[in-house]
Amino acid sequence: PVLTQDDLKKLAAYKAVEYVESGMVLGLGTGSTAYHAVNRIGELLKQGKLHNIIGIPTSKRTEEQALSLGIPLSDLDTHPVLDLAIDGADEVDTHLNLVKGRGGSLLREKMVEGACRKFVVIVDESKMVETLGGSGLAMPVEVVPFCWNFTATRLQNLFTKAGCVAKLRAADGGGKPYLTDNANYIVDLYFKGEIGDLKAASDEILRLAGVVEHGMFIDMATTVIIAGERGITVKNK
Ligand code: A5P
Repeated sequence: PVLTQDDLKKLAAYKAVEYVESGMVLGLGTGSTAYHAVNRIGELLKQGKLHNIIGIPTSKRTEEQALSLGIPLSDLDTHPVLDLAIDGADEVDTHLNLVKGRGGSLLREKMVEGACRKFVVIVDESKMVETLGGSGLAMPVEVVPFCWNFTATRLQNLFTKAGCVAKLRAADGGGKPYLTDNANYIVDLYFKGEIGDLKAASDEILRLAGVVEHGMFIDMATTVIIAGERGITVKNK
């Protein structure tokens, strides 16, 4: 039988949960892949195979999921250092740099995952790319709503050579802007050419006053677990 993409996501997620030990403070990721990891952690807690876990959710959605599973939760104010975070990604390049946020959360993810000793990324093989942004899919940037159009234009102008087009993300099914957990907007950047030096691009984006954070996660992942038709591959930094 052929595995579906969701089966692959679940395989990667379950593999990542093998890294979880009792007593850990854990970053709980967001998205359809991380969803399986959070479920699995809840299941192991219920079975008594894990105990004393403290979860730090990376979105309101994950917070609700974790609460429904009875996973004890805390936040970065109380637990500024985490043992491990598990989360999905939209793209993973050959250096294990990531694009995240196509599902809408990125700021809380970056705060939580930047505070972890170990950050395990879980993906199905379709997420693996040569260079970030090269697939023509969105690179999300969280911006403040105030004069978002001004900020979007400035973002687009940073990358004219790469044929960048900036678009405000709309909420599901409508003309209203998508609102993040932090009540901000998302501007999606689409590239025709290469982004080039990621660190330089990151610095330039973050220098714009209307920008809150972007979805490039450079040098953050310590491990990437990739599930494919032929099994699981683990890449370590
Ligand atoms: C949440 O917005 C994202 O950063 C996700 O982690 C990422 O989009 C991966 O999501 P999926 O596992 O649903 O593909």
